[in-house]
Amino acid sequence: MGRCIGVLTAGGDSPGLNAAIRAIGNSGLRAYGMRVIGFRDGFRGLMENRTVPLEGDILSGILTLGGTILGTSRDKPHKMPVGDKVQDMTGVMMHNYRRHNLEALVCIGGGGTQKNAYRLSQLGMNIVTLPKTIDNDVAMTDITFGFDTALSIATDAIDRLHSTAHSHHRIIVVEIMGHNTGWLGLGAGLASGADVILIPEIPYDVNKVAEAIRRRRHRGKNFSIVAISEGALSMQDAAVLEKLKIEKAAAKDEKDAKRIKKAEATLAAFKLKQDTNTLQLSRELEALTGLESRVTILGHLQRGGTPSAADRILATRLGTACTEAIHDQQFGTMVAVKGEGTTLVPLANVVGKLKAVPLDHPWLRAALETGACLGNAKF
Ligand code: F6P
Repeated sequence: MGRCIGVLTAGGDSPGLNAAIRAIGNSGLRAYGMRVIGFRDGFRGLMENRTVPLEGDILSGILTLGGTILGTSRDKPHKMPVGDKVQDMTGVMMHNYRRHNLEALVCIGGGGTQKNAYRLSQLGMNIVTLPKTIDNDVAMTDITFGFDTALSIATDAIDRLHSTAHSHHRIIVVEIMGHNTGWLGLGAGLASGADVILIPEIPYDVNKVAEAIRRRRHRGKNFSIVAISEGALSMQDAAVLEKLKIEKAAAKDEKDAKRIKKAEATLAAFKLKQDTNTLQLSRELEALTGLESRVTILGHLQRGGTPSAADRILATRLGTACTEAIHDQQFGTMVAVKGEGTTLVPLANVVGKLKAVPLDHPWLRAALETGACLGNAKF
């Protein structure tokens, strides 16, 4: 029957996914004689047994393509919407894994995918994962592919906003993706010389931000660029969120179903309100500085299009290291980036952790020392 491995891409798409698929398909066959099949649309394709052979022409010409030729979804194996119900479909997935007589399944994704893959590995599947996300927030790896491309796109966008902000003497508040971490916002803010950089790791005080903009004005700079990560919170909101999380954890400890439901609903309402955070900040800054302000939300532009050279190389390196790990039967692991090389990290050490920007990170120091305001008196 020969050797056969499966591959799926899950979570938000990320530039470099096709480079990784190509590397797995080509190196699997050339170096180890493994046939490779892809499952479409993440874990949903594994459940529905929708496959595509990853060999020959299908792997040709995809190195430079954005997105994923396999499709993706945010479906979770143990909480899968099927019809009008949400069900645990891990058993069906295991059946399909065995039906193809797979030697291993490669799951390419961010933090959520690592968790889902770990669950399947605990049920007995031979799993190897690759870390990808534009957020760069996966624990135990120096970097994830997709980040470099998104960083360049966000930087280029802020560069363009500079000239219009300058011409109109305006504040432009630009929202950058990154989920609950500030890698992308900080990186793009630093690379583009944003005047204010707000990230989730450092709750901000709107008065501090306004003060920095007013100080610039006194120096004759009557425009300002405020780069804000989508997950950044004001100090007040950060305190509220902390309380809500504590309440949810306490309700869970007590296994009080009614209280858990209430805590979850309050958290969901809080998060919904956060969607308008950037707009609210812009309005507050207008009122506090007397300058006109506009909002630009970069959104999914940051994830689309051609991967950078660095992401193509990284995804190719990880893809080839992945087939080697499978050949060596190093299952239940993530192929992580460590310095110039790669290393295998047990999935148990990856899941449930978030790689946030450390408060002593050199990028933060560089931003401060070159005059950016981080919106907090402690910095
Ligand atoms: O995880 C990548 C990411 O782009 C985050 O930065 C963002 O919060 C999220 O995905 C958006 O998800 P969706 O594409 O499902 O709206």
